[in-house]
Amino acid sequence: MLSKIKEHLIEVYKFKTSSAEELEQFRINYLGKKGLINGLFIAFKQLSNQDKKELGQPLNELKNKAQEKFNELKALISQNEESSSSDIDLTMSAEPSRLGSRHPLSIVKNEIIDIFARLGFTISEGPEIEDDWHNFSALNLPEEHPARDMQDTFFIQRSPDILLRTHTSSVQVRYMEKSTPPIRTISPGRVFRNEAISARAHCIFHQIEGLYIDEKVSFSDLKQTLLHFAQEFFGTDTEIRLRPSYFPFTEPSAEVDISCNMCKGKGCNICKYSGWVEILGCGMIDPNVLKNCNIDPNKFSGFAFGMGVERIAMLKYQIKDLRFFFENDLRFLEQFKKA
Ligand code: DAH
Repeated sequence: MLSKIKEHLIEVYKFKTSSAEELEQFRINYLGKKGLINGLFIAFKQLSNQDKKELGQPLNELKNKAQEKFNELKALISQNEESSSSDIDLTMSAEPSRLGSRHPLSIVKNEIIDIFARLGFTISEGPEIEDDWHNFSALNLPEEHPARDMQDTFFIQRSPDILLRTHTSSVQVRYMEKSTPPIRTISPGRVFRNEAISARAHCIFHQIEGLYIDEKVSFSDLKQTLLHFAQEFFGTDTEIRLRPSYFPFTEPSAEVDISCNMCKGKGCNICKYSGWVEILGCGMIDPNVLKNCNIDPNKFSGFAFGMGVERIAMLKYQIKDLRFFFENDLRFLEQFKKA
């Protein structure tokens, strides 16, 4: 009898099915009233006490294992039935897939590029790791020039000649060196300065540099180009104001304000109650810079301007803290999704 019990135990272990009918057959064969386990229990009663002692435990084990196997298979089969059941509506629309959106700085950068591209400006780029010549010296900022202090520079260790560019004006030098006028180009890019991070400053930010060189380019060409840009970008009722300023690479130089697009000149906390907000620096390219880049200043003249993309984006979207652009918080970024 023991060998029979062991044989059945192995059969029970090995039994597998995914069909409800086969499982029912298993139940009848093993666990039913007239099933073989009950048969064994009836025979068990006739045994001597000695045999009962020996066979009681294996017989109970067979019964329990058969019951366990049955329960286990039954649960699996009913789970399968549920998931393949016909109440699933295959025509229902799927969960929408989450689309990303452009970063606000890219949106603004592309808009600025588009405006200048329509005026015939090409796009040019240069390296983020620059040498002293392209970032400073060629731009009329020789060594020891005090204006170098205006841009706290990250130098590459062990070489005072190699640095992370502090402005995209370095690209205008590279562009002039390899081209002959007429030149019309804008250079978007990332720049670096050793500044403490705050709501208004960051050590990494973005600029767009503009450069226009031809015969007889005048300050009024500069002013008209910037007025056109301001009205295209901020709205046709935008006015501009030029304030005299100083940059080593331009003479004369100016800073450009736009009429505050928030309060329309009435005064608000964005324009600090002045009605004007600064958007960029510009000027007529200093003849020394043209010379440094092998362009004859007696024949050609030109203008240049440089603006911060973060600043323009903050004005456009009324963002009060520059750090939002770099935190990649989805709650911020998702606000720039196109409907
Ligand atoms: N390079 C200047 C800066 O980073 C911005 C600038 C001012 C660029 C005047 C120009 C310019 O081309 O003409 O602060």
